[in-house]
Amino acid sequence: MKGKRILIGITGGIAAYKIAFLIRLLKKQGAEVKCIMTPASSDFIPPLTIATLSENPAYVDFWNKQNGQWTNHVDLGLWPDVFIIAPLTANTLAKLANGYCDNLLTATYLSAKCPVIVSPAMDLDMYAHETTNNNLNKLASYGVHIMPAEVGELASGLVGKGRMVEPESIVKYLTDFFVTQKQFDAKTILITAGPTYEYIDPVRFIGNFSSGKMGYAIADEFLKRGAKVILITGPTNQTLVHPNLEVVSVVTAEEMFEFVRSRWVEANVGVFSAAVADYRPEQMETSKIKKKDDKITINLVKNPDILAWAGKNKTKDQFLVGFALETNNALEYGKNKLKLKNLNAIVINSLADPGAGFAADTNKISILSEDEQLLDFDLKSKADVAVDIVNFINTKQ
Ligand code: CTP
Repeated sequence: MKGKRILIGITGGIAAYKIAFLIRLLKKQGAEVKCIMTPASSDFIPPLTIATLSENPAYVDFWNKQNGQWTNHVDLGLWPDVFIIAPLTANTLAKLANGYCDNLLTATYLSAKCPVIVSPAMDLDMYAHETTNNNLNKLASYGVHIMPAEVGELASGLVGKGRMVEPESIVKYLTDFFVTQKQFDAKTILITAGPTYEYIDPVRFIGNFSSGKMGYAIADEFLKRGAKVILITGPTNQTLVHPNLEVVSVVTAEEMFEFVRSRWVEANVGVFSAAVADYRPEQMETSKIKKKDDKITINLVKNPDILAWAGKNKTKDQFLVGFALETNNALEYGKNKLKLKNLNAIVINSLADPGAGFAADTNKISILSEDEQLLDFDLKSKADVAVDIVNFINTKQ
């Protein structure tokens, strides 16, 4: 925590008083702290308290009404290593989810380049409301880290989920956060994602329903942990931008193979999640096939098995993870693929599980390691599944 720059955004909830303790804990551990307060939060804790404890001005307004001095929200957004908004009220949450910038805090959120963490706090019914849930999901989809509210006694006298995470737990979260941010520093991860399309003629192809969501989520998670990522992807609608990310777009299995062959040597870890077409038309027609005969035959030939090639050409320092999407006997097929392709681990998902598979936003996986250890996970969002996969790989590094 020493030397870390932490910007705290305080909004108008009763838990705002606890931020005084949070600032003390962070300062004790050697962090630099600045705070932005929404006007409503100063009804709960005076700016003087926040300024005194943080040893910096408490930023409430865009400008100082006495002398006209302007607080530059862009500078504030560029200053921190992390921006934590706690407590986050339902009102500010709704503003952040929709891009409002009607006060210094919301404007700084839009300008911030660093990771953002939010700690929502509100009454239980507000927290349980679908709107709140949707807004939190929206923030999560923008890459904001959510510290879910805790269960306990609330200011209304009701007991339920809605309490802000305690300051000690926020400090622990931040400490872990800074550690994981560097977990894969100086490591290169090669990921294959999405489907491949195999041309029949210039306008038609053989493909599959892979959305690429899983592979992109894994890439995103590795990037968050400091890795350099080479993402070799078939055609998808996914987008991901990051200074440490190199996206190589391909169409066919042969193209994907060509790039994997030339880049595999650079990788410390390979995660091959692409749904590669096993076969391609023997010959691509150079002009559009015209509708003449009642029946036509397309001869298919086998594509290279890209993962098996990487397994065969793996050094003892490289860690290789494959995927197996099965409709039946998932574990048995997964086990065979792990051995056959010389993998260190395989992520098995079964289409028989509701919510798992290609187009869904969720997935249910098991991870089988070469030492035959099997880890089963619950149905989760693909982003959370990516966290499990990357956590698993981290234990093996
Ligand atoms: N894979 C690959 N190249 C291929 C086929 C598959 O790299 N030509 C990789 C996939 O990215 C995945 C793993 O191999 O990580 C398993 O893919 P899957 O389609 O489940 O298995 P196959 O080996 O193709 O076997 P089958 O289709 O018979 O189940």
